[in-house]
Amino acid sequence: PLGKRVFSGIQPTGIPHLGNYLGAIRHWVDMQQGNECIFCLVDMHAITVWQDPIQLRSQIIEQAAILMAAGIDPQKHILFNQSAVSAHARMGWIFNCVARIGWMNRMTQFKDKAGKNREAHSAGLYVYPNLMAADILTYQATCVPVGEDQRQHLELTNDIAQKFNHDYQIDFFQEVQGLIPATSARVMNLRDGSKKMSKSDPSEQGRIELLDEDDVIANKIRRAKSDSEPLPSEVEGLENRLEASNLVSIYAVMANQSVDQVLRQFGGQGFSGFKSELADALIQHIRPIREETKRLLADEAHIREMLRMGAKKASAIAEPIVSKVEEIVGF
Ligand code: ADP
Ligand code: NA
Repeated sequence: PLGKRVFSGIQPTGIPHLGNYLGAIRHWVDMQQGNECIFCLVDMHAITVWQDPIQLRSQIIEQAAILMAAGIDPQKHILFNQSAVSAHARMGWIFNCVARIGWMNRMTQFKDKAGKNREAHSAGLYVYPNLMAADILTYQATCVPVGEDQRQHLELTNDIAQKFNHDYQIDFFQEVQGLIPATSARVMNLRDGSKKMSKSDPSEQGRIELLDEDDVIANKIRRAKSDSEPLPSEVEGLENRLEASNLVSIYAVMANQSVDQVLRQFGGQGFSGFKSELADALIQHIRPIREETKRLLADEAHIREMLRMGAKKASAIAEPIVSKVEEIVGF
């Protein structure tokens, strides 16, 4: 009776931020209704950039707690840590051999992350999208809810699936559908509206984290970059105003309104009143997640147990699929 098999992941490299929440996590929570959902803390992706081992280990637990606090149900669905299921690495290696170097060279996220000094980055960062394809196809997931930044990696996943089918003359992998939300698929940095909000940004001022205290949220919004014009009363008035449109879009989601409705309410006003409404709305959403996370973190053994159970359930799905793929390639 279950609908789709849903897979998605998040890197345990820091505290999830508003972009992760609006672009991904809140949709994961909703999709639990009527689908079979698999949510993965992708620690193998995390180490494509060096991570402090002690911190990585504790962030895995913390992030599991945050996802549970946000509404992910590890009993009815699957929440686990990528490295705990060996199928990811096995499938990832096979896909390294299916994908072409030319395909990797076209990945814009590598270019963004590596910057000018590409030679100095890990080979893992370069082939990261092949491991992401493995994450998804190891479960034969059909639906992948992600933010806009993952669009190209999803296309690559389908290219790999097709090339595998072609190379081995077998109709094994189905097409994967991305589910990129219509709004907030790309939440921007609060201090620089030309960059996406990201865990890896060295400054925390540009992002709201799901564990930020109320006064920290209020402060970050108060100091968020805007511009000197008042809010426009129509969408056209947001053109070329990156920071203003970002704040308006965030408010629209928080208040469950369309951008048009928000502008009808605030059009003509300056940013200070609007920002204080926005801060209140964010605090109302984030406070319960923060408080529930703290409650859950008081019992780390329980979280570890949930992840162990998740890895067992994930393995049960992945193992027959990866074994079949290994057989197809001749292992
Ligand atoms: P980050 O890039 O911040 O490290 P991840 O790579 O762990 O985040 O991504 C986890 C999920 O959050 C992915 O589905 C990704 O597309 C989504 N996501 C990340 N940043 C944003 C953002 N600024 N706006 C919307 N969605 C985002
Ligand atoms: Na990302």
